[in-house]
Amino acid sequence: MKDYVLVTGGTGYIGSHTVIELLNNGYDVVIVDNLCNSKALVVDRIEKIARKRPIFVELDVRDEKKLNEVFSNYNITSVIHFAGLKAVGESVEKPQLYYDNNIGSTEILLKVMRAHETKNIVFSSSATVYGNPKRVPIYEEDPVGEVTNPYAETKVKIEFMLKDLAKGDPTMNIAILRYFNPIGAHQSGLIGEDPNGIPNNIMPYITQVAIGKLPYLHVFGNDYKTKDGTGIRDYIHVVDLAKGHVATLKKLATNPGLVIYNLGTGVGTSVLELVNAFIAANGVDIPYKIEARRPGDIDTCYANCDKAYKEMGWKAIYNMVDCCKDSWNWQKHNPKGYGE
Ligand code: NAD
Ligand code: UD1
Repeated sequence: MKDYVLVTGGTGYIGSHTVIELLNNGYDVVIVDNLCNSKALVVDRIEKIARKRPIFVELDVRDEKKLNEVFSNYNITSVIHFAGLKAVGESVEKPQLYYDNNIGSTEILLKVMRAHETKNIVFSSSATVYGNPKRVPIYEEDPVGEVTNPYAETKVKIEFMLKDLAKGDPTMNIAILRYFNPIGAHQSGLIGEDPNGIPNNIMPYITQVAIGKLPYLHVFGNDYKTKDGTGIRDYIHVVDLAKGHVATLKKLATNPGLVIYNLGTGVGTSVLELVNAFIAANGVDIPYKIEARRPGDIDTCYANCDKAYKEMGWKAIYNMVDCCKDSWNWQKHNPKGYGE
């Protein structure tokens, strides 16, 4: 029987890019997704890019019966768990939805994995677990847990669940990946980020201003303790991030038990630097207005990524010009995202 990697949330932004890297590296993939924040059309786009079609099963990860069937039908040896809700503002309004969807789906997934003796799991965590970091760059051993919204809380709680699981069962191999700020898109322009409604994150907002869908960018505060007063983040090309998952599966194949890695670039970029980089890379104007801070935002957040390089040989290779060009290439060719 063939071995498969199960990718939950595999039609989403990071998941779809990761599935391509997995297929390119010879893995066979089963995607499960309930399409609450993505489209089935993504599977066709993946096939077009990778020249191989992943298996796709539409289901909610909380549907234990259906998930069990997938594990019975395919020999799943590893799981990459992207499925989850990720809008911070929405999580404040609907905390139960976030606890139920994000934590509930992980509990069911782990239960079904246990029943089928699947031992390897990669979990999509976030730099958000560090809260307001005491120092930058942030190292993996820095404190986690002092967070201010239910979305971040779900990531912290799932991390603790996985750490306990690793302690209790030494045969499990668990990777917690803390992503910094993914931007960019596949170079083909066939897949990319397609947020519902008005984007919360900065890059899709910028590309929607560039395409004329939104009039200008609201810059949330210029009184932070940073070089130009605007917030500093670690923006990582989504294809680099996707490749990080392939490196992680290879790492898990060596039976390391629990591992935790920051996936970022190690470079901090301010909002104004990002806007100017986008303008310079693409020759389009991005009008903006400086406005009040967004509640919950922090000054500066960027990673130290030495551990991922030392232990997995992975590091980000794309630069800010690549990120800006690829984000714009995706938006330009898909002005309405996947919605056309
Ligand atoms: P996304 O919304 O594009 O992808 C998530 C996918 O999961 C979507 O396709 C959605 O339909 C699916 N999904 C959600 N709940 C589900 C459920 N119960 N059952 C089945 N499918 C379900 O988001 P993304 O940006 O690709 O993020 C992927 C993961 O990475 C998420 O867990 C997110 O919290 C995490 N993460 C994202 C970022 C970011 O900036 N994009 C940063 C850090 C961490
Ligand atoms: C946000 C989430 C975080 C999540 C991360 C990746 C909040 C408070 N935090 O982080 O939990 O892990 O996305 O999904 O939502 N900005 C603007 N104008 C905009 C949008 C953003 O100026 O329209 C600024 C922000 O103030 C920040 C930077 O751009 O300084 C990046 O913002 P964003 O893309 O939302 O990411 P984070 O705030 O890092």
